[in-house]
Amino acid sequence: MLKNKKLAAWLEDMKELCKPDEVVICDGSKEEYDRMWNLLVDAGVAKKLNNEKRPNSYLVRSDPADVARVESRTYICSDTEEEAGPTNNWIEPDEMRTTLHGLFDGCMKGRTMYVIPFSMGPVGSPIAHIGVEISDSPYVVTNMHIMTRVGQAVLDELGEDGDFVPCVHSVGMPLDEETVDVPWPCNPQNLYIAHFPKTREIWSFGSGYGGNALLGKKCFALRIASAMAHDEGWLAEHMLILKLTNPEGESKYIAGAFPSACGKTNLAMLIPTIPGWTVETVGDDICWMKFGDDGQLYAINPEAGFFGVAPGTGMDSNANAMNTLTGNCIFTNVAETDDGDVWWEGMTDEPPSHLIDWTGREWNPNMDRPAAHPNARFTVSAAQCPAIAEEWEELKGVPISAILFGGRRASVVPLVNEAQSWQQGTFFGSIIASEKTAAAAGAIGELRRDPMAMLPFCGYNMAEYWNHWINIGQKAGVKLPRIYYVNWFRKDDEGRFMWPGFGENSRILKWVFERCAGTADAIETPIGNLPGIDGLDFSGLDISDDEIATLLRVEIDGWLSELPLIEDYYNTFQGKVPEELFNELAALKQRLEEAKQEAA
Ligand code: OXD
Ligand code: MN
Repeated sequence: MLKNKKLAAWLEDMKELCKPDEVVICDGSKEEYDRMWNLLVDAGVAKKLNNEKRPNSYLVRSDPADVARVESRTYICSDTEEEAGPTNNWIEPDEMRTTLHGLFDGCMKGRTMYVIPFSMGPVGSPIAHIGVEISDSPYVVTNMHIMTRVGQAVLDELGEDGDFVPCVHSVGMPLDEETVDVPWPCNPQNLYIAHFPKTREIWSFGSGYGGNALLGKKCFALRIASAMAHDEGWLAEHMLILKLTNPEGESKYIAGAFPSACGKTNLAMLIPTIPGWTVETVGDDICWMKFGDDGQLYAINPEAGFFGVAPGTGMDSNANAMNTLTGNCIFTNVAETDDGDVWWEGMTDEPPSHLIDWTGREWNPNMDRPAAHPNARFTVSAAQCPAIAEEWEELKGVPISAILFGGRRASVVPLVNEAQSWQQGTFFGSIIASEKTAAAAGAIGELRRDPMAMLPFCGYNMAEYWNHWINIGQKAGVKLPRIYYVNWFRKDDEGRFMWPGFGENSRILKWVFERCAGTADAIETPIGNLPGIDGLDFSGLDISDDEIATLLRVEIDGWLSELPLIEDYYNTFQGKVPEELFNELAALKQRLEEAKQEAA
């Protein structure tokens, strides 16, 4: 039945190892989707929501110990530790294989092994790639149906000899006569999310949540794909893709890298506040870019759905997301309303007077704990988004004109700063730092470097990844996107955000568009090209000239005190950081010192 030779042989091995009671090859059908939900409802982990309010949608509550990606248990098992680099956890491949073999041996006893053939990207696109996930979690099957393209078309595309990335997943709780199953099986004590970049394999054990378990997303589309992209001369990035159209009807495509939970989904679905401009969505999280024959980078969104952070999403912050979530959704770890619908912090100004919280306990607004988990998620098909661009599934991808890099920075980094070259843009990407959010386990608010927003997602040595970026820019005949460093999160002395963000970010996008079109001016400064005080369209916005000046100020002393930190950071890469980036750092220092002297 399975024509593909590698797939058939691999499945035999996996059956022998995992010893499931049953094997099901997933076809991606609606019937299969509904069947999974019947299982999940019967298991007591899922609840069908009120069909009148939220048709064909489900609420799932995970085990409270399994609520986010666990970076401390995520491994890049390259041959040497140096290849994984200092930003990744490394375990020697043979040692990891022995550990995994022990854990996976018999791990699916009493369960069904689902075999999920999936395409990252529209089937048949030259930018797309195929994976096959085996999983013992019906919840994973439902999410993969939405987040990827699953089924026979993928097997047909694979043919007899096509290649795929094997992705092995188990919740890590085999069943025998003595073990009583639980609604959300998991095994947090023995968690491993292991990647083998050389053999392009993924093995994940012990978690059923999000990026730990939906292996097409972070594990394949970023960690393994970044290694593939390095070897094959393309880019696999943690970026949204949006289409921006001006009042004359001309469009440009912009990609943007921001750390997890820094508003990528909101930016991808933004409703401009400036008249006549529109934003449409191509993707909200991941972007694969390959060069077209014309030397331009063409991008696809490898995903088919959105796995978005629910808290903070409301009609004010992201009306398009709210209007995407009207039905056919999965909600995980949100709160439940008395009328069988969902709620989370930020959905409405006032919380309902009574809820069942994400842990299944009674909740009211007087309680000092959130009703939804801060990393509660929605899963929904991208096709349902009212702002989806009609070309979002275009096989050849969309040509990228600009790339934005950003993070949460309370100070120093201006609202927008244009790189003067691809190399300087790569430098900007390499120095992104951001305050930590709830998307990963750990302390929230702490500042950490998150280069290109890829810190938890780069499948090899980050310094070599920067080198790959530099090399991409040096290829003969390429026409590269312009690069911008943006910061929506600057705060004033009282700790208040100075920039309103959300739809107002269209003012920055407009400047980026016009720079790419050659119709907007910029001022060359020591840190890059900035809009002048009149360069951005602030019409109709309640913001003072002083505030604008602060948002666009070149903070010479602030930058000068950052430089040694950047140098220290680069030095953690044991001499592997490309000299081009050290040159950028030195040149920046010189320009800042000259500017300081001039000002004195
Ligand atoms: C995500 C993340 O889920 O970046 O997109 O954590
Ligand atoms: Mn992400």
